[in-house]
Amino acid sequence: MGKREELGEILHVLRAQQFDRPLLDRLCELTTRIRKVAKMKEGADFLQRLLSHKRGMLYFTQPSTRTFLSFHSACHILGIRVSEIRDSATSSEFKGESPEDALRTFSSYVDIIIMRTPQAGFADATAEMLERTERPIPVINAGSGKDQHPTQALLDIYTLHRSFKDRGGIDGKTIAMIGDLDRGRTVRSLSYLMKNYSGVRLIFVAPESRRMAEDIKAFLDKNEIPWKEHDRLADVLPEVDAVYMTRIQHEWDVAGESSAIDYSNFAFRHEHLAILPRDAIIMHPLPRRDELDPRVDSDPRAKYWRQERNGMWMRVALIARSLGADKEIIDPYGSSTHLL
Ligand code: NCD
Repeated sequence: MGKREELGEILHVLRAQQFDRPLLDRLCELTTRIRKVAKMKEGADFLQRLLSHKRGMLYFTQPSTRTFLSFHSACHILGIRVSEIRDSATSSEFKGESPEDALRTFSSYVDIIIMRTPQAGFADATAEMLERTERPIPVINAGSGKDQHPTQALLDIYTLHRSFKDRGGIDGKTIAMIGDLDRGRTVRSLSYLMKNYSGVRLIFVAPESRRMAEDIKAFLDKNEIPWKEHDRLADVLPEVDAVYMTRIQHEWDVAGESSAIDYSNFAFRHEHLAILPRDAIIMHPLPRRDELDPRVDSDPRAKYWRQERNGMWMRVALIARSLGADKEIIDPYGSSTHLL
């Protein structure tokens, strides 16, 4: 992790490149611990008290359902009271206040800011700006334009980690990413995290005009992570351990160009279950459209609903870490594990 992220114990979550293997392993361990502790009333009450003196701000100026609710629930689990902005037209930004000033204002009232914005790099800029103030607080990037979605990538890692725990973990696995790879931020952040695992192979399956961006391919080459491209999902399914479906990001179209593309080769259909290896898994960050047949949901290899719930637990872990409560969760009484 870079110096700036650690400055003055301010632990931001801004981009996937911040995370190294020991930190990923620690976060997965913390997430599992939280999931188990929260199952019992005594454990849930313990979590509720941990950060009940803290307040959080959810600044979501881009559409969101699950990520918003997931962070909202994660704050509740830790006893954090939350305020929210979901539309900058209802804040003083409407009066001409800059987003920077608006965020500095919000930071005066809370102890952590969780933000989703259409602009790439805005969470980083906010974190930098707050670090120059007298009252810096952690910033969590909940999706920044087409660029990054680090907390989604972390919950994806946790889902892969859980799914492959009896098969040697994520190391050595072949992961196919399907869909609008050029404009999907989840696959970008997840690709960055792959540098932390050995022997991983990536297969990108996308329409010609929506292929994975060159900066990610250059990053993978630099880190010696093998990748290849294909233009038919069915051709790669027999060789994968995980298939990561994504939807077409039509909201970024300039002139409705998505509607001109034939997506039939980039959709997971019910009959594909027959050619997917028996121990492979199917993931999707959701929301889905036509690229994933709902009849696949009842197959035990479909992990996306579990993945969604994993997201809430991973976000509890990330918030707890950013606010310094992670050690107490791992070791509530210095050495006892009686809550497990
Ligand atoms: C993703 C996003 O917003 O980038 N959704 C999510 O956070 N789970 C994926 C998407 O919108 O396609």
